[in-house]
Amino acid sequence: MREAGRVVARVHAALQAALRPGISTLELDRLAAETMARYQAHSCFLGYRGYPAHICTSINEELVHGIPQANRLLHEGDILSIDVGVRYRGFIGDSAWTYAVGAISPGAQELMRVTEQSLFQGIAAAQNGKQVVDISRAVQNCVESQGLYVVRQYTGHGVGRQMHEAPQVLNYASEDPDGQTLLRPGLVLAIEPMVQAGTWQTQTLSDEWTVVSKDGSLTAHFEHTVAITNNGPEILTLP
Ligand code: MF3
Ligand code: CO
Repeated sequence: MREAGRVVARVHAALQAALRPGISTLELDRLAAETMARYQAHSCFLGYRGYPAHICTSINEELVHGIPQANRLLHEGDILSIDVGVRYRGFIGDSAWTYAVGAISPGAQELMRVTEQSLFQGIAAAQNGKQVVDISRAVQNCVESQGLYVVRQYTGHGVGRQMHEAPQVLNYASEDPDGQTLLRPGLVLAIEPMVQAGTWQTQTLSDEWTVVSKDGSLTAHFEHTVAITNNGPEILTLP
């Protein structure tokens, strides 16, 4: 899983280096596919429930599952969330990041800063002997104490030989029974706060994939694959 995570990080690095106004999200998808192939890895999104691309590219009010398109170009001031999942020698790595395209608004910067911070607070809570809900609570407190909204409808998850394994990892504290799962060395989780500027509610567009904020406000998504170890959380998808 360390090796799968390293491939995911390399795909992100290649995509980040290619970001500029005028590039299409389909060009990014091709670059992702080429980079995965170079490392003998495969997209675990392609074909998942019929998903038609190698990565997800979600711009501004688009939260997750945006489909790369030839006619969808990046513009200066956009924020772009890229979600990358690969299978490498039978194991999955999964990581998402929100990137700025050129100069972005102060509100967009703040949204990105808080969402990334909430991911790292969640990771810091991923300690042997704690519970999944401790991660959820850490993420929620970070986001809501800074006046932003954490999405309820989509969650983090266990990850291993499959992309989505038990337990689900909510981004808010609740009575969800998975929240009581004990964190033990060897458990690997995809921790992935999804945060919006104006509401926690989302809706899905008519393409049946693209999820947007219900009020059209900006959104951000940061995700790492994290292993629980005796020496604390180990982030497997770091560059
Ligand atoms: N990375 C997403 C997750 O963590 C899954 C992408 S959906 C897919 O759940 F259809 F594109 F695979
Ligand atoms: Co995920």
